[in-house]
Amino acid sequence: MDHEHVVTHRGERTGLPITIAVHTTVRGRSAGGCRITTYPDWRDAVTDALRLSAAMTAKCAIAGLPLGGAKTVVAVPTAYEKGPDLLHDVGDLIASLDGRYATGPDVGTGPGDMAVIAERTPHVFCRPQAAGGSGDSSPHTAAGVVAALRAVCADRFGSPDLGRRSFAILGLGRVGGHVLDLLAATGATISAADVDESRRRPGVTWLSPRQCLTADVDVLIPAALGGLLTARTVPRLRCAAIAGPANNQLDEPGTAGLLHERGILWAPDIVVSAGGLINATAVELLHETPAQAAARVEAIGDTLAAILAAARAGGISPAAAVQ
Ligand code: PHE
Repeated sequence: MDHEHVVTHRGERTGLPITIAVHTTVRGRSAGGCRITTYPDWRDAVTDALRLSAAMTAKCAIAGLPLGGAKTVVAVPTAYEKGPDLLHDVGDLIASLDGRYATGPDVGTGPGDMAVIAERTPHVFCRPQAAGGSGDSSPHTAAGVVAALRAVCADRFGSPDLGRRSFAILGLGRVGGHVLDLLAATGATISAADVDESRRRPGVTWLSPRQCLTADVDVLIPAALGGLLTARTVPRLRCAAIAGPANNQLDEPGTAGLLHERGILWAPDIVVSAGGLINATAVELLHETPAQAAARVEAIGDTLAAILAAARAGGISPAAAVQ
């Protein structure tokens, strides 16, 4: 067992299975978002929590944050409308960990949900600013992604100028939508896909998620759920590089080697996706100013550039260089 503490609890109010996986703590603390989504079986949610929390440890370490990794995952039925009852169930379980774990937003949750969880426990990042938190983390995650994209383009194409490149964004949720806005402002060529057709945007070539994954572009940006890079999908890819905010993009670590063999530059998601976590913890935990926090988010570009340079020098994949 790699994990320090794992608990799965049936919520008192909802009867739904809530898992909190604390992978490690640093000085007694860990952090990681609260994911509320559907799974074929609740046990799959436990497995996901184990993997996601381990990735959070690496994410915090590379970002230089004094925190260990953790994650909350709640498996809900299809089309479930979450309400305060579920968030209070989550809050009670977080409270039972006595500060060893603090949560934040993730797939299926946002700042408003953090405010409701905070009715049961103070260990919550990213409540709305009006409620005393640092607010929505997704613009900061997106800013970190764009800093990472510049580093990727500098390494792969010899220039950090994003306006000269083509991108395919897979997933236009909160983070993917902000990434699209930032890229559109550079004049870049953009295609995108989302399971939700209502997220279609003017000026953007609309693709099905399948087409998007294999689009012939400079950089593929995975911004939805993880596990999309596998031994089956890698041979079909037509992008030159991949960098995006989705967590756990590889189905298993060995897939990084397959990407490397195909000459596709894959920027590890634990580096690319850290902006939201970095901003929230810099402001709320380290009490830095917004400008200091933004500089930390921007430094994702330097961190990634150093990893890519080390990978290039060693003839190894960026994933191998990050270890
Ligand atoms: N979803 C965020 C991540 O994966 C988790 C997070 C954001 C945690 C903000 C705390 C604060 O990094």
